[in-house]
Amino acid sequence: MLRSRLQGVGSYLPEKILTNKDLAKAVDTTDEWILQRTGIKQRHIAADGEYTSDLATKAAQNALEDCGTALTDIDTIIVATTSPDLTFPSTATIVQEKLGIKQGFAFDIQAACSGFVYALSMADSMIRSGQIRTALVIGAETFSRLVDWEDRRTCVLFGDGAGAVVLKAHEGERGILSSHLFSDGAYCDFLKTTGGPAFNKMVGVVEMNGREVFKQAVGKMAEAVKQCLDQHGLMGHEVDWLIPHQANKRIIDAMGDKLGLKAEQVVVTVDQHANTSAASIPLALDVAVKDGRIKENDLILMEALGAGFTWGSALVRF
Ligand code: ACO
Repeated sequence: MLRSRLQGVGSYLPEKILTNKDLAKAVDTTDEWILQRTGIKQRHIAADGEYTSDLATKAAQNALEDCGTALTDIDTIIVATTSPDLTFPSTATIVQEKLGIKQGFAFDIQAACSGFVYALSMADSMIRSGQIRTALVIGAETFSRLVDWEDRRTCVLFGDGAGAVVLKAHEGERGILSSHLFSDGAYCDFLKTTGGPAFNKMVGVVEMNGREVFKQAVGKMAEAVKQCLDQHGLMGHEVDWLIPHQANKRIIDAMGDKLGLKAEQVVVTVDQHANTSAASIPLALDVAVKDGRIKENDLILMEALGAGFTWGSALVRF
């Protein structure tokens, strides 16, 4: 069977680290409050002049090196981002130029924190249909540029980073087994920016109903996971690894419990880089692959929810 195999994985976090204690000097918050409510200890912040495309390019280079794939093999670049360098052109075309890739096509996907799962699904469909053979799928964000650094309710939650995978057409059992995407625009107002090109010609800052997002995130991601597991006749505990969107440790724990997973089966990196939106799943994946936890043939379940709301899941035989 033709599948999209995860051939290489890579990530990149900007050098500058902002700890909870650093933040507490700027807004009325404490390390204890942030840690207890979210599990976040620190976040990385892109330097002045360092853009989403730079983070994406570095993560992509790491993923390409990881599997020794040549630039000339890449048919498609998809960048999942909600913090593009510019309104247009797409960040993906800028990454194409920065990598020095001359062939194929590149485009962005905007599904907020679910962006990576959406992008993975799109690339997988193109590979299985025979349209392409090799894709570079990147989640990259400079979310620090989208938060109001005076709003303690949101600024403590987010960070910058990028993660990438190289997907290759492959005949066999390994690869993406299925992906399941959902959205419901009725929730648009629960999590959004205060600006946009058509709305007010501004970028805006994040505005969020945290409690409602929390409640919906657990229910909706569980729904996406159930559909995925049911399709494969699997129980939660039969999955080797859960790689959830890294938004909040309490949401991650609730999902792990619902699936009946042991804490060791859940990959958690939110403490190190906070919520990096579309970058969070590939960032966590890269950590768990590089530290040797995730091995060939392991079954990985990914799930995410983001603004829109958009949500989804993907099951991968690594
Ligand atoms: N430091 C100290 N106090 C704070 C802070 C802060 N950083 N932020 C809010 N508070 C205060 C509030 O002002 C409020 O004070 P008040 O009672 O005097 O009015 C109090 O803490 C409680 O505020 P709530 O918003 O009710 O706090 P809650 O327990 O819901 O925690 C949180 C807030 C952490 C945002 C939680 O709702 C949450 O995790 N929601 C999920 C949101 C999320 O992860 N979003 C990411 C994007 S979507 C996604 O990726 C899934």
